[in-house]
Amino acid sequence: MASLGTPVNTALFVYILYSVQRILFPKSKSGPIPNEFKAGYSWMPKSHPPSVLFKIYTPKTLEPFNGQDGRRILLAIDGTVYDVTSGRNFYGPNGMYGNFAGRDASRGMAKQSFDPEMLTPVDQPLDSLQDLKPDEIDNMKGWIEHFSNKYIICGKLVENDAV
Ligand code: HEM
Repeated sequence: MASLGTPVNTALFVYILYSVQRILFPKSKSGPIPNEFKAGYSWMPKSHPPSVLFKIYTPKTLEPFNGQDGRRILLAIDGTVYDVTSGRNFYGPNGMYGNFAGRDASRGMAKQSFDPEMLTPVDQPLDSLQDLKPDEIDNMKGWIEHFSNKYIICGKLVENDAV
């Protein structure tokens, strides 16, 4: 029978005792919770990530979301509002498509045009898009698919007097 007399057995016995007490009395970690993953499995981000609320917008309430002064950038296509802030290079004040920021971009997207008359003035009724040709509607739908895959849908665009 194995005896505790040999040095190897004594060492193993001590090791087992040590392991058992580590399981029974784990070291409690004190101090602040780390806020980076590399600091350990238990961590919390410094702040809550920004949350996006689905809201009802009108042309007038959408307009301020044009990316000026680093603010959020929203645009609407066919009544759906997208948060395109992550595309600031496209839609920000110096972006190639900055004209669509804070606006109903449906007609410009359908006709593939930046002309100012593509944008309905914000104090007028929503663009009904009734006169668009089938290929223009298809073009707009292509953009809707692109935006739905890339950006977060964050609202609905309704008439100014509907809210
Ligand atoms: C000279 C003509 C044009 C050039 C060289 C051009 C170039 C580009 C390039 C390089 C991209 C980036 C593609 C990517 O990385 O995903 C892009 C995206 C885009 N283009 Fe154009 N474009 C032109 C005309 C237009 C016009 C007339 C419109 C009008 C609606 C338009 C609307 C867009 C939109 C909405 C995007 C998507 C941006 C996004 O993903 O948020 N482009 N274009």
